[in-house]
Order: sequence, then structure tokens, then C-alpha cells
Amino acid sequence: MKRIGMLTSGGDCQALNATMRGVVKGLHTMMGNVEIYGFEDGYKGLIYGNYKRMTSQDFSGILTRGGTILGTSRQPFKKMRVPDANGLDKVEAMKSTYQYLGLSCLVVLGGNGSQKTANMLSEEGLNVVSLPKTIDNDLYGTDMTFGFQSAVDIATDAIDCIHTTAASHNRVFIVELMGHKVGWVTLHAGIAGGADIILIPEIPYNLNHVISAIERRTQQGKGFTILAVAEGAISVEDAKLSKKEYKAKIAKRQHSTVSYELAAQIEEATGREVRVTIPGHTQRGGSPVPFDRVISSRLGVTAAELIKNEDYGKMVIMKGFEIDTIPLNETAGKLKYVCPDDPIIKQAKNLGISFGD
Ligand code: F6P
Repeated sequence: MKRIGMLTSGGDCQALNATMRGVVKGLHTMMGNVEIYGFEDGYKGLIYGNYKRMTSQDFSGILTRGGTILGTSRQPFKKMRVPDANGLDKVEAMKSTYQYLGLSCLVVLGGNGSQKTANMLSEEGLNVVSLPKTIDNDLYGTDMTFGFQSAVDIATDAIDCIHTTAASHNRVFIVELMGHKVGWVTLHAGIAGGADIILIPEIPYNLNHVISAIERRTQQGKGFTILAVAEGAISVEDAKLSKKEYKAKIAKRQHSTVSYELAAQIEEATGREVRVTIPGHTQRGGSPVPFDRVISSRLGVTAAELIKNEDYGKMVIMKGFEIDTIPLNETAGKLKYVCPDDPIIKQAKNLGISFGD
């Protein structure tokens, strides 16, 4: 009988439970009896041997439940090879937990950093199958991650709500959305919510162009303007700085986030009233949208198929609307950025949306 270990790692998102349910239902349907061990709080559970034996009952009734029934934590990849405070070798500890339990495979649901650790464990000889989790949609090799559509739904809802109040007050509104390194959520929610200006990390903005876009709307008799701004949006000048210089500049910034800085600059240049709204972690909360429930079920059941076929060392991915797989060593450590030449950017610009470039 196969023994499967499972963990959810990194920032949570919607559809983690739906995906685990897909894995377990798939295993039971295709292989009959399997033993499932759930590790608590991500890789931490694997390192310190915190796990629970789970039954298929545990994965029942969780399709629509947000968060993760296993708990999660961030265990940075770059610290995995650094011994913990008590001198414990984390990589060796993970391997011994795996061996102690006699696992046939470890299923990892995680984002970028977690996939790097999954790949490292695979290279260390463990059988690993991984699943692409993150609201950021930034995992290389997959067209879509689960969680992304649910986050876009919440972010769009925030912009929709801001629309009515912005219009009533004739104000400029900035809605700051998640995405430090990539702008997928902001781009999609910005288009879906009818934002007038979208600022994302991949397309550095010129403040003067942002201000002109606002003034153009005013001249057209449109009293309000909505900006969808990714938390990692960056100006053209700042984009020229080295990582170190930029970090130092941010540390000294008077404003807590890029949006508050932009708000002050826009107020000063236009004399308009600017307000900032940050939906923050609400974007990762609540129930997965139906689209996520469908893809996570399909991704999960495909992970079960890989386990049945003993086809390890892979991440399950989406190629268009089809499910596929990619070797972990081809995806680990690579981010999928919004390409400024992507047709979606051109289409958004043809809708009249400014990217401040
Ligand atoms: O990776 C998902 C994500 O939600 C990012 O979009 C965001 O920048 C980050 O996590 C927030 O991390 P934390 O939950 O640790 O504050």
C-alpha cells in the first residue's frame, strides 16, 4: 500500500483544500487504499516531524473552504541549508521524516520558493509531486495557478465598489493590489474592474504620464479616475537603481506603500483629492471561485495519476485549458512575469488604459 505525505507551503490561497481533496479522491478512486499523512504548517511539519494520519473523511466537505486544513508557513528556500537555532540540519531532518514514515511520495502544494525546496528534495532522492499554488500566478511553466482567479475576483470586487464612491465624490482613487514582483492580479482585476490606469512592476511608470492620464480624463469631463496599482509597482527612475539602492530608498520612504507615495505626488501635481484602498490579504481569503474549484480538482486528480504511475519529480500544470506536467528542475526558481509585449497589454492600451509608460 502506498503512503503519501502532503503539505501546503508559503502564503495560503483559495483552493488549497479543493486541490488536496482532488488528490485524495483521485488516489482512492484509482488506487483504492492509500495511507495519507498531512504535515502541519508546510515544510516545518516535515522538518520537525509534526504530522497527522488522515483519512479520506478529512478531505470531505472542503471543496469550498478557503485556507488550508493542514496550516502553512513560510520557510524560505535560502535558509533550508542553514541549520536551525538548535543546529538541526533541516534537509536531513526532512529526509528522515520521509524515510521514518516509509513514504512513497510527498505531495507539495506551493508557490515559487516552495517549488525550489520541492525540487531540492527531489534531487535529494525523495519522490515528489507538486501543485502550482499562488494568487500571484507567477509560476514558470503553468499558464494558470490555482488561487489566481479567486484573488482576481476579490480584487475586481474591490475596484467595483470603489467605482461607485469615486464617481459620487469626483475623486482619484488608488486600489493597491497584491503582487510584489509580478502584476498578474493587478492587470486582470484592473481590466475586469475598468481601471483607467494600471501600474505593475514589469512596466515601470513615469509619474508625468500618470498625471497626464488623470488630467486627460478631467478634460474629457470624467470627474473620477481609478488606478489599479500593484504593491510592487515602480517608477522608471527607481527601476534604474540596483536592488540594494532601491531597498535603501524604500527604507527611508515617508509613505508606507507605493500607493501612498503616488497619492501624495498626484495630489501635489493636480490639486485633486486622492484616496487609497488596500484590500490586502482579503485577496487570499474566502471560498475559491468555481473556475479555481474546477482547475484545482483537475490538477489534484492528475497528481494522483502521477503517483499511481510512479512518475515523480514533476509539477502539474495548465497549458491553455489542458492539464499537463513539467519536470520540477525545469520550473523551480523561475518566475513567470507579465511581458510588456504580451497582446493583453496592447489590448488594454487599445481600451484606453494607461500603464504610465
Ligand atoms: O505570494 C502571495 C502573496 O500574497 C503576495 O502577493 C504578497 O506580496 C505576499 O504573499 C504577502 O505575504 P505575507 O502573507 O507573508 O504578508
